Amino acid sequence: MSFTRKLLAWYKRNARVLPWRETRNPYAILVSEFMLQQTQVSRVLDYYPRFLKRFPTIDKLARARPKTVREAWHGMGYYARAANLHALAKQVAETGYRIPDDPEDLRTLPGVGRYTAGAVACFAYEKPVPTVDTNVRRVLTRVFGNAKVGMRNAELWELASRLLPKDGKRAWRFNQALMELGALVCTARKPKCPICPLRSDCLAVRSATRTRNRGPERPR
Ligand code: ADE
Repeated sequence: MSFTRKLLAWYKRNARVLPWRETRNPYAILVSEFMLQQTQVSRVLDYYPRFLKRFPTIDKLARARPKTVREAWHGMGYYARAANLHALAKQVAETGYRIPDDPEDLRTLPGVGRYTAGAVACFAYEKPVPTVDTNVRRVLTRVFGNAKVGMRNAELWELASRLLPKDGKRAWRFNQALMELGALVCTARKPKCPICPLRSDCLAVRSATRTRNRGPERPR
């Protein structure tokens, strides 16, 4: 079975139900991605519904006072994200309330880097575009990379592009699945390799096994 099929089969059985996976509302997705940039899922789960209740549309957020936005963000830290999100809302609201679906256009907005642009284009609009966050970077580096040298950023994005299914709905699941595998199995510390669906493809697993099986050096 191919890498992608294994990954998607695993995702189908193991994905968490998360509120931003139940919507295609670009504004709601954007808010979730801004929050998830530097805050753990468990904490975002607390703040996300409250924030959306307070600012249910981008228009409402655009017209809010900075102090209100800051208060709604309070506790998550990294306030620059809240300020950027607010600035973004104002900018989009001025141009007619539509969040772009093209990653290049998205990247012109305040606080939107390559990763967030890809995530919004894919998760809100089901565009088949890659998105490489910390989790995805770790998974791809371990499975395909040279652990010693690591992978350059450009190489990683190219690899993510090549692996990505061309169909938008599959691409959506693929990107979510890579993030989910990185969050639940291919974790930074103590990865759960024995239960990983990609262990037979994984270079990191293979090189670890090789080292273990080599045994003690023979005396010369
Ligand atoms: N981190 C960033 N985006 C995410 C998403 N859509 N699901 C889970 N974790 C994420």
